[in-house]
Amino acid sequence: MRRRECLRAITGSGGLLVGGGAGALLSACDTLATAAPADALAAGLPLRVPRTLDMDGLVLTARRGSALVAPGVSSPVWTLGEEAASGATLSVRSGGRARVQLINELDEATIVHWHGLRPPEHSDGHPRFAIAPGASYSYDFEVNEPASLYWYHPHAHMRTAVQAYMGMAGLIVVRDEAEDALGLPAGVRELPLLIQDKRLDGSGALIYAASGHDMMEGYLGDVPFVNGVRSPVVDVDTALYRLRVLNGSNARIFRVARSDGRPLKLIGGDAGFLAAPVDVPYVDLATGERADLLVDFSDLPVGTRLHLRSLQFPSPSGGGMGMGMGMRGMGGGLPQGAQMDLLEFRVAREVSEPHVIPGTLPAATPVLRSEATRERAFRFDSMMMNHTINSRMYDMERIDERIPLGSTEVWTFINDSAFPHPVHMHAVHFHVLSRTGGRGQVLPWESGAKDTVLIHPGERVEVAARFDRHPGVFMLHCHNLEHEDMGMMMNFLIE
Ligand code: C2O
Ligand code: CU
Ligand code: CU
Repeated sequence: MRRRECLRAITGSGGLLVGGGAGALLSACDTLATAAPADALAAGLPLRVPRTLDMDGLVLTARRGSALVAPGVSSPVWTLGEEAASGATLSVRSGGRARVQLINELDEATIVHWHGLRPPEHSDGHPRFAIAPGASYSYDFEVNEPASLYWYHPHAHMRTAVQAYMGMAGLIVVRDEAEDALGLPAGVRELPLLIQDKRLDGSGALIYAASGHDMMEGYLGDVPFVNGVRSPVVDVDTALYRLRVLNGSNARIFRVARSDGRPLKLIGGDAGFLAAPVDVPYVDLATGERADLLVDFSDLPVGTRLHLRSLQFPSPSGGGMGMGMGMRGMGGGLPQGAQMDLLEFRVAREVSEPHVIPGTLPAATPVLRSEATRERAFRFDSMMMNHTINSRMYDMERIDERIPLGSTEVWTFINDSAFPHPVHMHAVHFHVLSRTGGRGQVLPWESGAKDTVLIHPGERVEVAARFDRHPGVFMLHCHNLEHEDMGMMMNFLIE
């Protein structure tokens, strides 16, 4: 590969690279022009910051392509318009319009869903709207969401896992005035981070080949990817940074922390800010969950290297049906709970930049139990080769629950299975009321408005939601993408 192709492959069309500097980038490209892939794998590419595209007037074309994923390694990918293993970052102001055309140039059906946004039914990307190869789909909706990090990914029934894994996922940043007023780190001090794990073949290319065991536990990778690049590196100044983190993996839970043991300042979750910043040693993120973090490098000497690390933790999978701990490793991939270094920070430049961290934040008003007029319970089971909700496998055309438009309800998610299930709702943001069993508490990163909540084996979690947006058919599902593809989903009709 020539230097120019290399640069283009790294940055995507119009993408930016942060840190590493032009020098490091050029030398990475020079190295990979000659080095064998195996040698070059040792050094990470500079962090890719995808280009930002406006959601109003956007065209996303699903197609196969190839992308540079590590120094000297180009991999087949499935993309939504970028020459990269993850998509562009979409941006929209709260109250703004999203007019998006999806064009399907794949050889299979697809549809894109805007995870965490609450559009009308027609624009939600429900699997029954999947379009055939050669077809296109037009979305048109107002984005009335609080400032936060959301994301987009495919939602074609039984094909979500492979499509998202191969690259068809990206971030959505919604901004609003309340956020502007906070004066949070911005520009190069705000890093959007889509974190994933991948399995690679001998040449370093992405490989998705799920075994029976993978379909039970979910497809766990061996190596971390950030923004479509394997184990990247970013140069930072001695300043405060805002890290906007999404777990976009198929099945891995990341325990996100600083490798130097200092706390993270957590300011937001899935769907907006917490009420106040809170110092936490780590944040657990399951697939679909987001964290808004402030990380302070201001007192570190130039030359310091540290990582954004996923800490080791005990696998939450139980013995259950004999499909948990005992069979771990049979599917391949590092076990759930293995340590992974996601991103390396190199403190490269001293600056003096005083910062003020706001004492309170513009959190959404919590939805209260006392507002609820009805309760429902949903049991997530994984037995033999089936993943079900209330003993049923998904049927795209079946309505499983009917909910009056405008009502507030308490939903209980029960996990008596051997696997963790990150449970996601379309159409609403919810507040977590309680967790009993297992970890036995609502965790700090679950205190704001959310759309996805992790239920470990043995846990019951109650959430409260207002179904006050739009009538129509929406979904509740497990966001482990293999579980989702296997049918751990259901439809609810808001009417
Ligand atoms: Cu992140 Cu139904 O989706
Ligand atoms: Cu969603
Ligand atoms: Cu699940």
